[in-house]
Order: sequence, then structure tokens, then C-alpha cells
Amino acid sequence: MSMTSAEIREAFLSFFEERGHQRVASASLIPSNDPTLLFTNAGMVPFKDVFLGDEKRDYVRATSSQRCLRAGGKHNDLENVGYTARHHTFFEMLGNFSFGDYFKREAIQYAWEFLTEVLRIPADKLWVTVFTEDDEAYDIWAREIGVPEARIARIGAKDNFWSMGDTGPCGPCSEIFYDHGDEVWGGPPGSAEEDGDRYIEIWNLVFMQFNRQADGTMEPLPKPSVDTGMGLERIAAVLQHVHSNYEIDLFTALIKAAAECVGTTDLDNKSLRVIADHIRSCSFLIADGVQPSNEGRGYVMRRIIRRAIRHGNMLGAQTGFFHKLVKALVVQMGAAYPELVEKQQVITDALAREEDQFGKTLERGLAILQDSLNQLEGDVIPGEVVFKLYDTYGFPMDLTADIAREKQLRIDEEGFHAAMAQQRQRAQEASQFGVDYNQRLKSDVKTQFVGYTEVKDTADIVEIFVEGESVQQLEAGQQGIIVLAKTPFYAESGGQIGDTGKLVANGGCFTVADTQYIGKAIGHHGVAESTLKIGDSVYAEIDAERRAQIKRNHSATHLLHAALRNLLGEHVTQKGSLVTADRLRFDFSHYEAVSAEQLDQIELQVNREIMANHELTAQHMAIDEAKKAGAMALFGEKYDDQVRVVSMGDFSMELCGGTHVARTGDIAGFRIVSESGIASGVRRLEAVTGHHAASFTLRQQNELRTAANLLKAEPLALSQRLQAQLDRSRNLEKQIDQLQQQLASAAGGDLVAQAEDINGRKVIIAQLQNVESKALREMVDDLKNQLQSGIIMLAVESKGKVALIAGVTKDLTSQVKAGDIVNTAAVEVGGKGGGRPDLAQAGGSDPSKIEDALSAVRAMLKQVL
Ligand code: ALA
Repeated sequence: MSMTSAEIREAFLSFFEERGHQRVASASLIPSNDPTLLFTNAGMVPFKDVFLGDEKRDYVRATSSQRCLRAGGKHNDLENVGYTARHHTFFEMLGNFSFGDYFKREAIQYAWEFLTEVLRIPADKLWVTVFTEDDEAYDIWAREIGVPEARIARIGAKDNFWSMGDTGPCGPCSEIFYDHGDEVWGGPPGSAEEDGDRYIEIWNLVFMQFNRQADGTMEPLPKPSVDTGMGLERIAAVLQHVHSNYEIDLFTALIKAAAECVGTTDLDNKSLRVIADHIRSCSFLIADGVQPSNEGRGYVMRRIIRRAIRHGNMLGAQTGFFHKLVKALVVQMGAAYPELVEKQQVITDALAREEDQFGKTLERGLAILQDSLNQLEGDVIPGEVVFKLYDTYGFPMDLTADIAREKQLRIDEEGFHAAMAQQRQRAQEASQFGVDYNQRLKSDVKTQFVGYTEVKDTADIVEIFVEGESVQQLEAGQQGIIVLAKTPFYAESGGQIGDTGKLVANGGCFTVADTQYIGKAIGHHGVAESTLKIGDSVYAEIDAERRAQIKRNHSATHLLHAALRNLLGEHVTQKGSLVTADRLRFDFSHYEAVSAEQLDQIELQVNREIMANHELTAQHMAIDEAKKAGAMALFGEKYDDQVRVVSMGDFSMELCGGTHVARTGDIAGFRIVSESGIASGVRRLEAVTGHHAASFTLRQQNELRTAANLLKAEPLALSQRLQAQLDRSRNLEKQIDQLQQQLASAAGGDLVAQAEDINGRKVIIAQLQNVESKALREMVDDLKNQLQSGIIMLAVESKGKVALIAGVTKDLTSQVKAGDIVNTAAVEVGGKGGGRPDLAQAGGSDPSKIEDALSAVRAMLKQVL
């Protein structure tokens, strides 16, 4: 009977305990004292300060089985989970550590003894690597342990120099590999086929010698130390004679439970592995205090949860399955990790909530993605699409990448980041609404604002600023800021832009380009035509047309705010607002994109209130009274004790200092022009009113008319006609597909007729033209069926590369394997490949050698058949 995971864990810890190591319990996944690290990603993390000499403990040798997480951050395996036999986000690392006590010799001896004597792994199944320059380790392995030199490889820094992160303890390492046998494809470390699954690294012995600084320099540690790590899941796979970590005892039970939860019987399905892996990482993360969120650790966890949910979905599960697995996990791991038992309910609840939330948008997001895949040319999903999925449907980038990978597509990561950066910039601009760009200026004046009722007035100049300095007079032609004792000009505030207009005096006109507060003084920015000095009386008149449009937009903003709360919910709060003459922009908190139907409803409701022609009233009252009356105030905004409350019928009541129309009917129409996300949980609407609303409608109408003309349809029958056109082109595409298939099978028929005879076997060796490399697999299956017994080797050139495929009917695989055939060809065209004995594929980079490759296969088959 092979050892269970629990037995292996215990055997390891007691082996080192017997050799003077302190047994230390697993620390949290959240490093307690290391801001440079997202998660505990190796057994040594809790000992980091001890290695650096910053912390003293009363032992110099330790051993642990540490829970680890490799997702996000430097060591990230999330994307590999489900695709390989041995990657996990969460795993347990067995380790022994020496803090300045023993070094290379003992570390190597202990490891060898444990593997060969305690676990009884045959020595000839083990291979080792050392860092290229590490002669000392090489000699210990070769001369003292006696590993044959053929099984020791010197490897460069990429694999044999281990670092915890971009900074921190690091050093050269020596790795021990296990050979899973020749039924698995792959080559020993350092060979061209090392990526295969045959030779698997099981134990890494790090000879800690340096502390990597942020600038890249390597400071020696106080004393040379040892840090080792052996993945419990990998060593369990070895001892339980299974080739994949997902077949060990710890996982089979979880995978079974996952299969039950999602309702499948296909236990080999890779999505079950993904789910089983992810329930471990997420449960432990929550147990260690992480909650799903939109940043940092919480976001990494959210990504993992969402990936798991989608994989469950692919297997046909409805959402609401993932949290049910916590129970099975606790059964498996609760004994070794009591914290899991203790937090079971918290974990289950948090996962259920997250599932519920994501479930709402998953389906819609997948539909959007499918839409864009249908239109996709080439094999890269544009960054814009990836971003939209992220922003609107909560699809983390790596989730979309995962879906893409299943379809042999890639995502445009750069494009995604660019779209993200753009959003960030928009958000930044939003948060700068109302910034007083005259902060440097100081004034004690308090200007009286008469613009609620007047558009023109006369007033005295009380202050003048030129280039940031207070002056007595402004010369003709000079640019400056004029402060009046009272003014009809509205200074930018509360999202409403400043007025423009003119100040007339002394035979000249001062054109006001902007109006801004300086403390409580109202500053008119512009250029003087004639000399103006303090004490002069001026005639001030705003651009009333422009102001009328600003008022429409401001009043419409209040209606919009109220409509949003009515239709989307009370969670909607204002996050920013900009009211100009051309349009209004309103940012508010909401967790998802506002749908087209909701936008219609909002637009209708605002227009209804416009038609109701409510009279606007503005009352001054005490802040408490206003709040009691239910006036909307901005959270976090400081208000004076006396506030102004603007009401429109019983539809809207808001604290506001801005200027408004007299009756809502004056707004004369409201159209929403765009909806977008500007930050996580913050949406932005842009809208127009008055004649801008009318011209927006006209523009749309024109566009509709032009499109209708192109399709020779009536504008109101456009979508019907368009649908007919789309159906037609879909049918045409289908016909093209069918014709292509006919062509391919005609070519296939020819191939069968031309099959050659090699030592009594039917063999097809051919180079094809104009065949998509994607179609090759089907073609080989088809040819196999037609031959019934035989061997096929096809090559095709596509975009300067070579695609090779070999197929062997099952009755002949004992004589020759497809992988050997395809590799014989691949060598000639500069590539390598692999696959099953009956079907294998390879690529190559030198199309000019295709003929040679096929001849080589012919020669090889003559020998082996
Ligand atoms: N810290 C080393 C590793 O994680 C042992 O591979």
C-alpha cells in the first residue's frame, strides 16, 4: 500500500525533527511582515528575517509543511492550472531549513537519505541539476552520493538560481527530478524536451547566500544557509504511482465532490481539476482573512473564484456550486489545518456571495465575448474587448485569456492595459472637478452673487490680479483677473462651469473668458481693452445664451440624479459632475454597466419630468432642516450651516448653489449620449439638453436614413432588412465551408488512391497546399478511417511555418508511434513535437526542408515496418 499524503507529510517532518530540526507550524498565506510579497509562495517566507539575520530564534534548524499560494506576483502558476499535470495555485511545501548551521553537504545528504531510504524511491529514478558554476554541489552529488554523471546536469540561473521575489534572500540551487518512465513524453532537465511531463522536479535545495537589493546588487547573507522545498502533491504522485498530481488521494476525493456539485461523471475533465485546485486556494485565503475585492490580494482571489465558476459553468453547472465544495475540502484537510474547520461557515458564505454576484453578469459577458469571437479576424482578441469584459462584466483579464486559450486564441494584453490606463486618466480628470486653479491667489473680498436673478449689473472693481500678484491697475492689452463687489457672473463650483461675458468701462471692453472663485471673491478672467483700476465702476454682462444652456444642463442633472436613484436604486450616489453649455456629465456609483433598456427608462423619466413643467424653487434653510426634508447632499462634502435647497416639484430636492431654469419645461428635451465605466464601481453618463438634444436626435436620424438608403429599406424597417442580409451572408459562409470540406475530402480521396506500400503497409506521405493547419487533425482521422490500417504523414506550409501531423491506426502503434514519425520530420524542418502514439503534431520553421522531412520519414518507415 502506498503512502497517503498525510503519511508523507508526517514522515518528512519527523525525519527532520529526529535530525535536530524544530517542527514549525504552517504560517498564514498572508506574509506577516513583508510588504514586498503578495502571498506566502514558498516554505521559507516565514523565515525570511531569520535568513537575513534580522530576527533571532532559539533554533538554527527548522522543518515545516507550509501552505503556499502561487497566483499573482513573482511566482504565478494560475494560468497553468488545468493545463499541466503538476501546477497548482495552492499547494503544500515540505521544507527543511538551516539558518547559518549546515550547508550544501548535509542538505544534499539529508535529501538523498529521505528519498531513497525513507520513501524508498529507487536511486536510478532520480536525476539532479546544479547551478552551472557550482562545482562544490556537483562534486557532492557525483563523488559522495554517487549519482552517475549522466544523470547530473548543470543548468543556468533561470532554473537554478532561486529568489523569493524581486528583493530578498536568494541563492544557487540544486534540484532533484523524478523520472515517471518512458510511457510519458519528455526529456531530462536541460534537454530540448524538458518541458514534457516525464522528468518532474520534486525537490529544490536552495543554498541561500545573498540578499537581493532593489537595485539588483547582491549582498551576502550573514551566514550561508539552506532552504529546501518539496511539493507535497508532487511527491505524493510519485509514491502513489500516478502521473498527475490531480490523481493523488488528496485530490481524487475533491474532484469527485466537484463532479457531484456540477453534475458530471467525466472525472478526467480538466475543468474539475481547475475547480478542485481553486477551492483549496480560495478557502485558505478566506480562512487567512482575505475577502474578494477589486484590488491587491482580494482581487487575485476574485480572479481565481471567477475562473472556477466559469469552469463549472462549462461543465453545465448553474452558479451556486462552488461554495458547496468547502465541506468536502474540510473533510480532506481539516485535520491538518484546524483553521479551515473553524472558518468553514465564513468561507462558505463569502464564496456564495461572490458566486451570486458574478453569476448575474457571467452569461451576458460570455454572450458579448462570443459575439466578438464571431467577428474576429486573426487569432488575437482585441484589448478593447478584453477591457469591456473586465469593466462591464467583471471578467478579469486572465479569465478572458483562459477562454481564449481554449479556442487557440490569444488576447491583446497591451491593448487591454492601454484601455485601462485611459480609464484611469478619465477617473483622474473626474476627481479634479471643481479644482480651484487659483489656489495660489488670496483674497479677503466676499463678492455678492446676483446672477440667480440678473444677467447684467453695474459694480465697482475691488481687486485686480496680474500674474498671481495683487495690483492697483490693469493696463490696456494686459491679461488679468478682476474682482467685483457684486456680479451676475457665476464662478465655477459644484460642477457648474464659470460664466463668460464682458465687463465694460472707460471706453473699453474686458472680455471675460472664465469665472473662478478666489476664496469668497469672484474673479473674472480676461484681457483688458482699456486701463482699469480699483474703484472703477463697470457694467457687467454675462453671455446669457450660454448661461441658459448651462442652466438647462444643470437642472437636467438634478432630474437625472433623481431618476437614477428611482430606477437603479438608492445605492446610486454622485461621484462627480460637470455642467457645461454643451453637455452634462454625471459620475455615480453603480456596480455594473447600465443596460440599454435602463438607459431608455432613465431618458423617458427625465423627459416626463421636463414635460411636467415643475416650477423650480430655491430656499435657504438650516442644513439640518434640509436634510430632514430629504434633500440630497453629497457625502463627505462640507456645507455651511445655511444651505440652498433646489426643488423641482416633488421629484427632486438637492442642496445646490448652481443656477437653474425657472421651470423644468425650459430644459426642452433630454438625450443620453453615452454610458461608460471610469473606475471600478463608478459609471459615467453624458447627456445633452435643449437644441443640443434636438441636433443629437437629428444626427442619429441622418445616420439611420443613410444606412437605410444603403440597404434600400425604409428607416423603420432597417433592422428587419439588416437581419435578412446577415442571414444571407451566414448562409453563404456555410456554403463556403461546405465547399471547402468537399475540396478537402476530394484531396483526401486522392491521397488514399496514392497511398504507397511500405513493407506491406499502406502509407500516405504527402505535402498539402491550401489546407488550414487547424483542419489537419480531422483530415488525418478521416484518412485513417478510409485506410482502416495504415500510416499517415502530412505536412503543410502556412505563413512561412511548417505544420506536421502524423497518424497511425491503432493496430500499428506497437510497430511505430506517431510521435516518432512526426519528430523524424520535425528535426529536418527545425522543430519538435509530441502527442499520442496514434496521433502527433509538430511545428517547424523551415518550409524549404519539407521534402527532406518527408523523405526522412519514408526512410525511417522502411526500416521499422
Ligand atoms: N524556496 C525554494 C522553492 O520554493 C525551496 O523552490
